[in-house]
Amino acid sequence: LWTPANIVADAIAKVRAQVGERKVLLGLSGGVDSSVVAALLHRAIGDQLTCVFVDHGLLRLHEGDQVMQMFAENMGVKVIRVDAEQRYLDLLKGVSDPEEKRKIIGRTFIELFDEEAAKLEGIDFLAQGTIYPDVIESVAMKHGKAHTIKSHHNVGGLPEDMKFELVEPLRELFKDEVRRLGVELGLPHDMVYRHPFPGPGLGVRILGEIKKEYADLLRQADHIFIEELRAAGWYEKTSQAFAVFIPVKSVGMVNDQRRYAWVVSLRAVETIDFMTARWAHLPYELLEKVSSRIIKEIEGVSRVVYDVSSKPPATIEWE
Ligand code: XMP
Repeated sequence: LWTPANIVADAIAKVRAQVGERKVLLGLSGGVDSSVVAALLHRAIGDQLTCVFVDHGLLRLHEGDQVMQMFAENMGVKVIRVDAEQRYLDLLKGVSDPEEKRKIIGRTFIELFDEEAAKLEGIDFLAQGTIYPDVIESVAMKHGKAHTIKSHHNVGGLPEDMKFELVEPLRELFKDEVRRLGVELGLPHDMVYRHPFPGPGLGVRILGEIKKEYADLLRQADHIFIEELRAAGWYEKTSQAFAVFIPVKSVGMVNDQRRYAWVVSLRAVETIDFMTARWAHLPYELLEKVSSRIIKEIEGVSRVVYDVSSKPPATIEWE
């Protein structure tokens, strides 16, 4: 019988049988899949699990601290946090091509993870939050059927000569099943039902060159948008919503002063499969509130626009 409790019990038994007394390493990203794996493995094998959380500095507001709080402080999971913001900013300096940015972010992520892994002793297994759709997608890619236009780095980013055996407890599950498992394992509802967030994070939501100033500003704008969406009951009605930093300056009048500052776009879409998507018809009052708050609360922003492009042809992300 498929109930979250049964699936958890079954997954725990399988992990214990596979791992025994040995040690497992997991790359924790803060996303739903790796978080559910962390909670599951912690329950199955406790201290035999070590997580490495690479914080590339392109996460949402307070996200890094929240990951540490939830897993390390509240649950007692062993988590090594790698603060790599400066390293990323240095590597990304002057880079404005979206695919180039993705490559640098993805490659560095793996390098940092490998560096941490190399410092640990006696690790035999590598756990991954691979879910069933990832398995299908990577098989399709190998057979040249699917053209993933962007270089996603969930599966297949690991070196061929990897010395670890894989632990992939979510490999047969769909996303909604993974979420139900997360709730069963005691993860907070808001975390488990969070909109998807791309691996390169804000790196593909800051158009062109990435700078810390832009990332900080975008984090604030994004936070205001999501906060208001939640308050208005629209978060669950949209599949993905976020702010985008547009490196263009526009004039605004604030307190009778001309302010020449940045433009932020809001993006919200409704979709089932993320292959096609309709821009969300958010109420004007909600957009109005978000826009006034962003302009009022963030000094560096003078103008907010709303993206009314559907996919196709417009992609969900701007880069
Ligand atoms: P697009 O922009 O292609 O996005 O319509 C479709 C879905 O994929 C996510 N996305 C990414 N996820 N790495 C990821 O892990 C990426 O480079 C990447 N680019 C897009 C996007 O957020 C949306 O959910």
